[in-house]
Amino acid sequence: MTKTRYKDEFPLFKENEGLVYLDSACTTLKPSRVIEAEMSYYREYGACASRSSHRLGRKTNGKLDECRETVAKFVGAESDELVWTKNTTEALNIIAHSIDVSHRKKVVTTVMEHHAALLPFMKLRDSGLIDLTILECDANGEIAMQQWEKAIDSDTRLVVTNNGNNTTGHVNDIKKIGNLAHDNGALLCVDGAQGVPHSKIRFKDSGADFLCFSAHKMLGPTGIGALVTKKELLKKMELFVIGGGTVKTVKLDKIEYDEGNTRFEAGIQNYAGIFGFAEACKFLSEISDLEAQEHKLRAVLIKAIDGAGAIRYGGDGKNYAPLCSFNFKNAKAHEVGLMLDKQDIAVRSGFFCAQPAIEALGAKDGAVRASCYIYNTEDDVKKFGEALQRLKTIYE
Ligand code: ALA
Repeated sequence: MTKTRYKDEFPLFKENEGLVYLDSACTTLKPSRVIEAEMSYYREYGACASRSSHRLGRKTNGKLDECRETVAKFVGAESDELVWTKNTTEALNIIAHSIDVSHRKKVVTTVMEHHAALLPFMKLRDSGLIDLTILECDANGEIAMQQWEKAIDSDTRLVVTNNGNNTTGHVNDIKKIGNLAHDNGALLCVDGAQGVPHSKIRFKDSGADFLCFSAHKMLGPTGIGALVTKKELLKKMELFVIGGGTVKTVKLDKIEYDEGNTRFEAGIQNYAGIFGFAEACKFLSEISDLEAQEHKLRAVLIKAIDGAGAIRYGGDGKNYAPLCSFNFKNAKAHEVGLMLDKQDIAVRSGFFCAQPAIEALGAKDGAVRASCYIYNTEDDVKKFGEALQRLKTIYE
């Protein structure tokens, strides 16, 4: 199959005929309808939301309410449980700075997290505000359940991990980890940047108390993401970015803050991005066989990398998102990235904003990563495999 039923919907392929785009874990391409939705804000709406009472203001309000409902529904949450953020990174930083750690200081996370999940908590640790336990991984980059059981205890305030790893693709069992956290009176924060785009998560029974994700990794625009959490937690979270849109009344001696989700959305928001984000969720909701297709693609990826004799990181199981990282023994990752680019194949190389994870896997100088999404076909991955075969002859 040379075309998926979706490829035609992505204008970038018209401009770059023959391109095999295998860098969706970095950012996905955007279908026309998402681009159109984003443009429609500037063409047809144009106004500020929740501020001006004129017709364009009211029209913008109405559309934004609709978008919030669409994105919240996509992850099985309510509209008033969703906060717009710039991206997953911002959502994770909000959590790190909004949780009360005065009674329980322990945060448990893993060496396999993205910098966005690791750094805010390492900084709090370095300031003496939290005690941070970082779990080690096995040779495949997986964290054994016994490790979680041992680490999460009655001192634990928060557990932070992903439901899709950006280096190996491994998907943690967040339901089990959430149960462990809750049994110990702790909360679970899920970095969903790589998980939400690939699996139908239902926030309410996912095990997560906080779920963070980015539009651009799921066909949407850059610069817009979401933090989903429970209403009772939203009320207790400390604000740290405040301004217009976060308050009920302001007297010079007293601020009365809003109570709901919108109090975390200070200033004018990325309205165009939100329009595009909602359209991306609608697009993805129409695809029923995403996970099945992606499992097939990952199997072909594994075959391509193993067939070229490269070192592959991560396991083979079903609980993996459609990506693989690898290295040729005698080649620099960026060099391989450039050589693949010469053959019209776009992959990522380097540390993937997850240096401790890559180093834990034994790839001290970074790695190469190939990652798929809905526009990829088995033929794409086979073309990648053929290119690796050509590189094999150079690097052997
Ligand atoms: N975090 C993104 C990646 O994994 C940029 O490539």
